Amino acid sequence: MHPDVIAALRCPVCRGPLAPSERALRCPAGHAFDIARQGYVSFLSGRPTGLVGDDADMVAARERFLGAGHFATLLQALAEESRGAAPGLVVEVGAGTAHYLAGVLEALPGRAGLAIDLSKHAARRAARAHPRVAAIVADARAAFPLADACAGLVLDVFAPRNGPELRRILRDDGALLVVTPTPEHLAELRPALGLLEVDPGKARRLEEALAPHLERGAARSLSWELRLGRADAHALAAMGPSARHLSPDALAERVQALPEQVRVTASVRIERWRPRRP
Ligand SMILES: C[S@@+](CC[C@H](N)C(=O)[O-])C[C@H]1O[C@@H](n2cnc3c(N)ncnc32)[C@H](O)[C@@H]1O
Ligand SMILES: [Zn+2]
Repeated sequence: MHPDVIAALRCPVCRGPLAPSERALRCPAGHAFDIARQGYVSFLSGRPTGLVGDDADMVAARERFLGAGHFATLLQALAEESRGAAPGLVVEVGAGTAHYLAGVLEALPGRAGLAIDLSKHAARRAARAHPRVAAIVADARAAFPLADACAGLVLDVFAPRNGPELRRILRDDGALLVVTPTPEHLAELRPALGLLEVDPGKARRLEEALAPHLERGAARSLSWELRLGRADAHALAAMGPSARHLSPDALAERVQALPEQVRVTASVRIERWRPRRP
């Protein structure tokens, strides 16, 4: 794990600093969190929260789909938006495979990144996404196991948004980049593959979650065309939340009924948010 990340991590029990010893991170009070063989650290308390992160099949589908470069336009835009980021960690919340975090770190030489996800399957992949990425398993709806003001930049791409914690971990001169889908995102595929609609209340909920803690800065919309073969369309459906609502057989059947190649709109909004000063 990168030393800058270890320096920023805090014990979720007592908020003490953590240091590596014997394949674990330990605080002075003796709380210990194992470093998994695959390189990530889990900070889940073991108490069931009712929340579930992405399962192994969803994460594998996400890696296949993103690895094929279909969202390269978004990756490039995030790398551009990251230029000149304030010093400190680059944190991705709900990072999945840390595809975007790894791309952004390429544009920020020497900077360390931390991927946070509720799914250990995601954390496993994220831990190998880039030599400067470390990965932890934690619930992004609860307190982050991180020090105040440790991050210069936070990415939140199609992931949960915890306004007070995002504000707390950001430096005063830091920035949060939030990516959300617009109603046009993947619209051509939604009925055919039974994908969930984009929630029309999403923009309002984003505002409610963030506005008390951060100020909205510049925003940009980004659309591009995806040309997807059946295997790509299958991976796209299988990596998203709709995968939980359709059986694998039902999805495979719907994919077979698609034309050999489909043209699909990708359409997202990138918003920049700045911490409110106390
Ligand atoms: C739609 S995926 C986005 C992943 C990644 N940002 C990307 O765009 O490739 C949402 C991710 O958030 C994670 N997630 C869901 N609930 C979470 C929570 N409460 N805390 C942390 N991560 C969570 C899921 O496991 C999943 O990896
Ligand atoms: Zn402790």
